[in-house]
Amino acid sequence: MIEDRQSTAKEVSASLFFGTIFTEHMLLAEYKDGAGWSTLRIEPYAPFSLDPATAVFHYGQAVFDGLKAYRGHDGQIRVFRPSTYLERFNASARRMCMPALDLNEALPALIELVRRERDSVPAGDGMALYLRPAMIASEPFLGVRPAKRYIFFAIASPAGPYYDDEKPLRIRVEDRYTRAAQGGIGAAKTGANYAASLLATEKAHRDGFDQVLWLDGMRREYLEEAGTMNIMLRLGDEVVTPRLGGTILPGVMRDSVLRLLRDWGIPATERAVSVNEVVDASNAGTLREAWGTGTASGLVPIGELAYRSQSLVINGGVAGELSDRLKTALADIQYGRTPDRHKWTVLV
Ligand code: COI
Repeated sequence: MIEDRQSTAKEVSASLFFGTIFTEHMLLAEYKDGAGWSTLRIEPYAPFSLDPATAVFHYGQAVFDGLKAYRGHDGQIRVFRPSTYLERFNASARRMCMPALDLNEALPALIELVRRERDSVPAGDGMALYLRPAMIASEPFLGVRPAKRYIFFAIASPAGPYYDDEKPLRIRVEDRYTRAAQGGIGAAKTGANYAASLLATEKAHRDGFDQVLWLDGMRREYLEEAGTMNIMLRLGDEVVTPRLGGTILPGVMRDSVLRLLRDWGIPATERAVSVNEVVDASNAGTLREAWGTGTASGLVPIGELAYRSQSLVINGGVAGELSDRLKTALADIQYGRTPDRHKWTVLV
């Protein structure tokens, strides 16, 4: 294990925080204009030494993704939907004028990294080896244009749940700051989107909230994302979630939950959802549940949405039965307790 390195892989426990310790190896490759990608290789985890003029430090040309490997009750390690995540990684790279990976090479290399680190995959529901593939512009150059050199790397971090508290989240509907605009980079997993979220999120934390729910950048009227998660609401008998329109992240967990709901015959609609519709539903008693979906977070119930002076308490502030059912169904697939009908998991 790499730093805070007081614990070893075998000591990883349910008290593990997200993103604090790293395994001993990383995946690495370099790209040069004209030459393409070097061979992907596994190397000891180590810091980079980069010129202060390196493009990523100045203009943020960088992308990442996050996916998880789970230790099943049967002792088998399963990686959840790795090709879907790597396809999204490539879509982010294209949006940021960065070279795509050859997935025929990247996918087996990532699985090989997990195999190498299999002893570091923690056991227990909520626990996983979080894999963080990333790419940065590594050319030392201060002009504003796509770089001619890149570094791809993937690191692995044994992790517990992103939200360590089991309580449903209290979320502020953010009506001042926005995260993304039509035509922008909101659908790409690039650091700038996360940097843009910090100030509003810090202010929400200061006021006692766990997260913010972003509204659209034009009218501050339509729901977008809840912090690092997509959002879903159960309104009456229907589940609704903001449609993908270029401003929100196409979540892999979002897609997985929509597929489960449709398997179960529960109407699940991707459409524009206005904050006024949510307030009206709350007043009418039809806002039955809400939850966020994300890879780091998993499926997390939302117990309250605060919009301006109104507090919309959802399901009495406790997790609802549908979110519980979804969470269990996902965990059963990820930890191998149920047949994987969708072929979402790759055995390591
Ligand atoms: C993930 O869910 O993997 C994310 O990207 C959230 C992360 C920024 C902590």
